[in-house]
Formats: sequence, C-alpha cells, structure tokens
Amino acid sequence: MSLEIVPTNAGIGAEIRGVDLVRPLDDAIFAEIEATLDTHGVIILRDQKITPEQQVAFSAQFGDVAINHNAKDFGIDGNPEIYLISNITESGRLIGTPRAGSEWHTDMCYAKQPARATMLHAIEVPELNGLALGDTQFANTAAAWETLPDAMKRKLDGLKGVFDFRGRKRGRPISAETIAQYPPVEHPIVRTHPRTGRKGLYVMRNDCTGIVGLEEDEALSLIGALADHITRPAFVYRHRWRVGDVVVWDNCTAQHQAMIDYDLPQRRLMWRTTVKGSVPF
Ligand code: SIN
Repeated sequence: MSLEIVPTNAGIGAEIRGVDLVRPLDDAIFAEIEATLDTHGVIILRDQKITPEQQVAFSAQFGDVAINHNAKDFGIDGNPEIYLISNITESGRLIGTPRAGSEWHTDMCYAKQPARATMLHAIEVPELNGLALGDTQFANTAAAWETLPDAMKRKLDGLKGVFDFRGRKRGRPISAETIAQYPPVEHPIVRTHPRTGRKGLYVMRNDCTGIVGLEEDEALSLIGALADHITRPAFVYRHRWRVGDVVVWDNCTAQHQAMIDYDLPQRRLMWRTTVKGSVPF
C-alpha cells in the first residue's frame, strides 16, 4: 500500500487514499495513518467495505476500544464495541441512537478519561433527490487556541471547566444508572495533546456547565464566547457522507456536530467505535 494524504483545505481534516481496511495494516502504514490523525485531527477513508470485526480491529490499533453505554441497547450482536447511530426502526423499535451529537461536543468529555478517538463507518446515508443529508461538522480546537488574543490566553491559563453528563441534549432518555456512572468532572480548558504536545481549547456549551472559581454568569459567557470562537467557519470542515466512508476523529483536536436535517423515510445508519483516552492535562 502507498498512501496519499489529501488535506480537506477546510479548517481541519485530511483524506487518506490508498488504504483498504479489509487487509491487515502493517506497522509502517498504520504509523502513517496515526501520524495523519495527529496532524490533521480528522481522517477520512472512502469506499471501505469492512465487517464489524474489521472495524473493531482497525479501532484497536489506536488503543483499547471502549464499550459505550449505548451498546446495551444498540450494540451489534457479537461486537459490543460497535454501537449503532440510526433513525431506522425495525418492528416498531429503533435500531440505534437517533439524533446523536446534534450539539457541538467532543466525545466523553464528561468522563475522567475522555475518549481518545471516535470512528464512524457510514452504512446508510440519507438523501433527498441524490443530495446527501446528515453531514457531520468538525472544528479545530488547536487552531482556535492558537488564534486567541494573548489577553484571553492569559485569562484561560490554569482554568478548569466543569463537565457534566446531564448538560447535553440527548437523542433519547438516559437511565439513572448511566447518569450515576458519570458524576461531574473538571478538565483544563486549555488541553495539551498527549501525543503532539499541541495545545487546544477544551470547552463547549452544555457539556461544560461551569468554570472552577468563576461566578456562573461570567463562566457561562466565557464558555459561550469560546464555543463560538472554536466553531467559526475558518476552523470547520463539514463532512458530506458517502456509503463506505470511515471517518476517525481525535477528540482532543476536534469537536463535532451532527446535522439532523433528515427524517424517515430518509435513513441514516452509522457504526460507531470509540477508543479510550487518558486524563486531560
Ligand atoms: C456523534 O456525535 O457521535 C455522532 C455524529 C454523527 O452521527 O454524525
């Protein structure tokens, strides 16, 4: 295999061409893929025809694969590491989490050890007369940090955000047991990437419900201003899905948002895997 890396020319992301995930990846090729994720924050691999086992195996090359709380209801038989994001119903029951991720966020920021990376594999993409719907947007948190004025950088130095699982609007009700699993946690608002050392903003509305040491009003207006800065068009790439796409994002460098601009009979089905991460610093 020889890889071609094609940056999106938007605020974040690169397409990697020349990879067939059906075949095992040797260490050198995987190292190139991982380095591209480190550099570009989001990687896109088109036209993949992989089984659930092959997706789990590719995910596991990035680290331990998590079992998401949604897998209880929407896991794939035999592959609990994959859970379905979908608006499709079968026999009157949803087969996946509908409307997942409709607000800007980064995965598992409410956990002590948020996810390192997330992978989505597009199985069905909704469309309207040939126009694909249900895009996902990605924003570059490192570029957002780097372009802040010095006064704001100084203000944020050492600040910690409070992240609360209950803050985000979710696609379906969450059990009390799952909520109890995730008590509020504190993470630095300016996060250092554990592999590259690059700094990025780690803050968003809803999940981040406060800032340690600041009054609520001041905290919420700062959170809102930073959230708006991160998602300025200059830092954003909007991915238009095609069946067979495998997209991986780094949850330290990227925030994302799913566009819920479709409804049945337009069907959307994604296989999602999540790679465990470390404590933010
Ligand atoms: C998510 O936020 O995990 C889902 C994103 C998407 O479905 O596009």
